[in-house]
Amino acid sequence: MAAADTSRGYKGFGSFHAEMSVEDMVASVAKHGSMPVSVHSPQSVLDAIEPFMKASCKQPGTAEFKADNFYIDKNWTFVNHGAFGGAHRLGMQVAAAWREHCETQPLQFVDRQLFAAYTYALWQAAQHVGSSPSHMVFTPNCTTGMNAVLASTDFSTKGVYMLDIGYGSVKKMTQAYAARMRSSTQEGGTCAPAVHMQHVPLPLQEGWQRRLLQEVEETLHAEHTALAVFDHITSNTALVLPVQELVQLCHRKGVPVMIDGAHAWGSTPLDLDSLGADYYVSNGHKWLCCPKGVAFLHVPDPDLRAAVQAPIISHGWDHGFHSSFIWDGCRDYAALLAVPALLQWWGQQGAAAQQHCSSLKEQAVLLLSEAWGTGCMAPLSSYGPMVLLQCPGGVLGGVPVEPQAHAAACTAALDACDTWQDAPVGPYSSEHAKMLQDHLHFQCRVEVPVKCLNGWLYLRVSFAPYNCMEDYEVLRDAINTIVQEGGVQ
Ligand SMILES: Cc1ncc(COP(=O)(O)O)c(C=O)c1O
Repeated sequence: MAAADTSRGYKGFGSFHAEMSVEDMVASVAKHGSMPVSVHSPQSVLDAIEPFMKASCKQPGTAEFKADNFYIDKNWTFVNHGAFGGAHRLGMQVAAAWREHCETQPLQFVDRQLFAAYTYALWQAAQHVGSSPSHMVFTPNCTTGMNAVLASTDFSTKGVYMLDIGYGSVKKMTQAYAARMRSSTQEGGTCAPAVHMQHVPLPLQEGWQRRLLQEVEETLHAEHTALAVFDHITSNTALVLPVQELVQLCHRKGVPVMIDGAHAWGSTPLDLDSLGADYYVSNGHKWLCCPKGVAFLHVPDPDLRAAVQAPIISHGWDHGFHSSFIWDGCRDYAALLAVPALLQWWGQQGAAAQQHCSSLKEQAVLLLSEAWGTGCMAPLSSYGPMVLLQCPGGVLGGVPVEPQAHAAACTAALDACDTWQDAPVGPYSSEHAKMLQDHLHFQCRVEVPVKCLNGWLYLRVSFAPYNCMEDYEVLRDAINTIVQEGGVQ
């Protein structure tokens, strides 16, 4: 039976009956490396974890591994983990156990157990990403974390600097917050555009990272920039950006920087306190395979933490960083409470899974590029868990492209490499990309995103622990059949 806590007065904010405020709990964990209060572990949660820890490990990429660990439908060729992930069964079952536990005695759970369980999960997550637990909070997704940062940024005279290969909604968020702020503060005077969008020419050749840094060095100006935002792994182009160097460059220029690491947690080793970005966000539901609804915002500087407002204001407002984010009204916390179990699973299986994904990536890229006579949008070493592969000519009926045309365009860009410019624009549009993606989805049961970049079509192919070579063979054959039959009409 749980020990009774009958101490006087509410701790923290609102009328929650936690034994200690969230701020004090997190500070204590950060200082002592142990939980200051007991964390309730429901038997149903322990029961959900046990089979996954005992199971003799099947080889990643086998049908048994996929069925034992994931829900992905075997009747689909699913090579689009990068979009919305694909949750691990362990996380889903642990989350379900927490959800049921909550409903057995909702007051006891929310009022007296939740905050300690949250703090424990935060501590485990922080250890995994090289952070003090004091420096980060859970958010439901990256978008929430980025909104919190952008809403707290002063856009009265300065704007955001980002790359045109950055995540699209960041531009919209910035425009919205800047417009709101400027309409309430602007009295004439000049201000920088809300968004400086820096162009990155495509495709990219060996050494593009150096050219990118040079370009940012020349075009990023502290007097116009309230915040620079870079993706750790870009969404449409799947590139791993040189974030350490970008952070250092921004700081040399006195510009605060946010890294959008939506694709990083679970796919890339993270050491966030060392990285030193002013703000870093990442998602749990993509490559950590958490149930949907868990992400984090990392803010190592105490002054910036004090300034960041949670986008939803509730009881924890004005009680500190953790209090303001932990409670945005009553909601489902089950996904984040599953994080410690998932980290335990990754601790056991992660090395084999990573090894599987990286050798799959090499083999599949070779298979597809040989079969289609094409290549990647950037050198293979530029990619993390996803790769952008060029489609062969002939995938769209009525768009006559010699299979060699894009290769020739790439060669032209390669020749002009030092001038950092786009290859000649291709004949395709985003409508063509949609037609091909729809055809693959509806006619072939292949789920893969098709991207139109600079007028050329690319497939963004993901490599997850449940994928196997057969997935990429099916993709190869589907595209080959489309070409043989005269392209999608
Ligand atoms: C680079 C990047 N940033 C942000 C997001 C948004 O993530 P969420 O919808 O979980 O907020 C995504 C989603 O795919 C992404 O790829």
